[in-house]
Amino acid sequence: MCGIVGYVGSEEALPILLEGLERLEYRGYDSAGVAVLGGEGEILVSKRAGRIVDLRRHIGDGVVPGSIGIGHTRWATHGRPNDENAHPHFGCDGRYAIVHNGIIENYAQLREELSARGHIFRSETDTEVVAHLLEEEGDRRLLEALMRVTDHLHGSYALAAISRDEPGTLVVAREQSPLVVGVGRGEQFVASDIPAILRHTREILILEDGDCAQLTAGAAEVFRHDGTPVEREALHVEWDVAAAEKGGHDHFMIKEILEQPHVFRETTRGRIDVTAGRVRLPELDGLDLATVRRLHIVACGTSYHAGLVGRALLEGIARVETRSEIGSEFRYQNPLVEAGDLLIAVSQSGETADTIAALREGRRRGAKTIAVTNVRGSSLDREADAVLPTLAGPEIAVASSKAYTSQILTLTLLALHMAQLRGREVRAGLLEELMELPAKADLLLSLRGEIEALAGRIAQAKDIFYIGRGLDYAVALEGQLKLKEISYLHAEALPAGELKHGTLALIEPGVPVIALCTQQRLREKTIGNMTEVRARGAHVIAIGQAGDVELERHADEVLSIPDVAEEIAPALTVLPLQLLAYYAAVARGNDVDKPRNLAKSVTVE
Ligand code: AGP
Repeated sequence: MCGIVGYVGSEEALPILLEGLERLEYRGYDSAGVAVLGGEGEILVSKRAGRIVDLRRHIGDGVVPGSIGIGHTRWATHGRPNDENAHPHFGCDGRYAIVHNGIIENYAQLREELSARGHIFRSETDTEVVAHLLEEEGDRRLLEALMRVTDHLHGSYALAAISRDEPGTLVVAREQSPLVVGVGRGEQFVASDIPAILRHTREILILEDGDCAQLTAGAAEVFRHDGTPVEREALHVEWDVAAAEKGGHDHFMIKEILEQPHVFRETTRGRIDVTAGRVRLPELDGLDLATVRRLHIVACGTSYHAGLVGRALLEGIARVETRSEIGSEFRYQNPLVEAGDLLIAVSQSGETADTIAALREGRRRGAKTIAVTNVRGSSLDREADAVLPTLAGPEIAVASSKAYTSQILTLTLLALHMAQLRGREVRAGLLEELMELPAKADLLLSLRGEIEALAGRIAQAKDIFYIGRGLDYAVALEGQLKLKEISYLHAEALPAGELKHGTLALIEPGVPVIALCTQQRLREKTIGNMTEVRARGAHVIAIGQAGDVELERHADEVLSIPDVAEEIAPALTVLPLQLLAYYAAVARGNDVDKPRNLAKSVTVE
């Protein structure tokens, strides 16, 4: 996820671009850049690794005059965060400058073909191929050239381009990455998100997939990809800027929860080939995974909970011995790690001190290492032998939501990949089911009103228990952590079968017990435990698969997730638990995005 902003009009473009980028910085902050087309017909560029403040410092008081330009703030996916990989990008002759948000899946092949035709690449990004492809369109008008280039692209993109041959024109294209056009008087704007341009205009055209647009000072014209003109209804935005940064939501957390269908798509994009029945993780090509003896997944907090799901799948699907370990404990246990083992460090930030220390400890003992992280350029990203990025986009709320589900999907793909390498059969239909997850998540999240009402009912409880077995227990742990960290309610998760060994003593009339019951093989057993607590007066809220009508007989309330393969159910089961925590925290008047005593990234031991 990156941020794009563009301007064409009669004002100086640079200040508008920089201010827009600051408003988009939540979308990515590892590097930033601008390109302004100057009066002399030259494209002047400034780009830098780091934040917008670093870019501002780099530009200093220097004026970059010109009333048309594009800007970008980056969240690295292809290529490390450095000056060269920062956008805008150019082809060989510097005629075009382009910025891009998304992932061009076939960039490696395009790059090879372009290189064979003599193009010289300056960056490691997927984006740069677009600038070189534009050059190959000869003297065509900029819009037509961009339309033809997009014919070659597979994947997701929001693109903005300027050309020194057409000084008053800014063109854009959208496919599965957000892009809006702001319509002004004698000036036009483009951005990945409304806040970037809200200070200048409240008239917004939301582009759709397959749209291209040509912006000149006097007009914003939208076309379908085949060149047919199309009208997009203007939206008049009433929100203030602060609300707009959260997409109109009250908190980043709910915005991030609701982004998960999109994140599921991004995490699996280009990594699943349903026709071939295969998972592709080229990032791991340099490791000899077929012969790995033992896996150690190391992480903290929510990422540790994702690791528990990963462990179950790596053992269950790939049949590789896997341990799941807490980062802060690992290095003090004289861990049994040796050459031939693989250590997988899971971390949203890539900067958690305990997880980094665990990775170093594993490496010291001879293990190869993989980082599963959301932040390219982070310490883990730099130190691991290989990196599987989680592609959730920047997560701002302290309580992790979309990074967690992205982690469990990434670990699921890893389990399938290892199963392939080891020649193990994978259940038929699982890959197709993974592709259906975004639609199912959308459906589930649309029922949030029901969960908000439930949250209102439990918001004053003294204790809340979460029970489940197998994968359901792993998700129960995440559900209780979410509730604790933002609602400050006391919550505890336990394997359902453990209740009778002690915790049952705490069950008294009215105590809420959330029972996760999505795993068919364990369903009868969990129902038995629900009956135990209900007999002692607990208020049982069951979460099961759609169509499990029998659950209603054993629970006081039932929340259903769409019917899904058990192995990948956690990605859906956790959604109502995230919403429950969120709405309970809101009901209690807490600062949801910045809970007391907690920090987003724990960089100390
Ligand atoms: C999750 O909601 C918490 N913010 C916390 O448990 C977090 O997962 C933990 O600190 C690990 O962070 P990391 O994923 O950035 O390593």
